[in-house]
Amino acid sequence: MEKKGKLIVIEGLDGSGKATQAKALYQALADRGEMVREVSFPDYASDSSALVKMYLRGDLGSEPGDVNAYAASAFYAVDRYASFKRDWEEFYRDGGMIVADRYTTSNAVHQCSKLPEGEWDGFLQWLFQFEYDLLAIPAPDRVIYLRTSAETTHDLLLKRYGGDVSREDIHEADAAYMARSRTAAEYCAKRLGWTVVECLRQGVMRPVEDIHAEIMGLL
Ligand SMILES: Nc1ncnc2c1ncn2[C@@H]1O[C@H](COP(=O)(O)OP(=O)(O)OP(=O)(O)O)[C@@H](O)[C@H]1O
Ligand SMILES: [Mg+2]
Repeated sequence: MEKKGKLIVIEGLDGSGKATQAKALYQALADRGEMVREVSFPDYASDSSALVKMYLRGDLGSEPGDVNAYAASAFYAVDRYASFKRDWEEFYRDGGMIVADRYTTSNAVHQCSKLPEGEWDGFLQWLFQFEYDLLAIPAPDRVIYLRTSAETTHDLLLKRYGGDVSREDIHEADAAYMARSRTAAEYCAKRLGWTVVECLRQGVMRPVEDIHAEIMGLL
């Protein structure tokens, strides 16, 4: 048996706090002396994200649906493959722990929404076989799904962009797409056994620390 580490994925809709919680989790584990590294997808600093960038800025069509679920998934998948081979395969094989801000699970959330619901299971089966079996990047040991509403996350994103809607990418700018993605995310969480962390309390985001403490408790 090949020695392997652990992969913990933080998933959620756009602007749900994935980067914030992945960083906090990484820091807490590192402070405890764990052999841990943080990765984030897409890997925008790497050339391997070129097709993802073209897709998100609308070079291949101004609406998410202009690039079909399988093609868009392939863009993100090869970016992960490059990151794995170049940056963290060895660390992982040596037994290291990886905290990932998004992963293959983001294809599940964001690409299912382009397909009719009756095709979701078939798509998910293809997706996981493609990435985990054929490309052979690791499957997550745990997926933490940060549950928010599509409206809240849009508001948080806009705040980050200083209220400037023109800075949103083609996913973020499409409210109907975001709403469908939420339905898909809920479906995936249930179907795939993701651990749900409720990030809203009475419609507003819980404090960062509060959510972090819950995630630490889960692990
Ligand atoms: N619990 C929280 N309460 C209030 N604001 C938050 C909370 N968590 C994150 N934020 C803020 O919301 C914005 C989005 O957070 P973050 O970048 O962590 O989300 P993300 O899920 O990684 O977003 P994206 O999908 O765009 O990559 C940031 O400005 C962040 O500071
Ligand atoms: Mg992020």
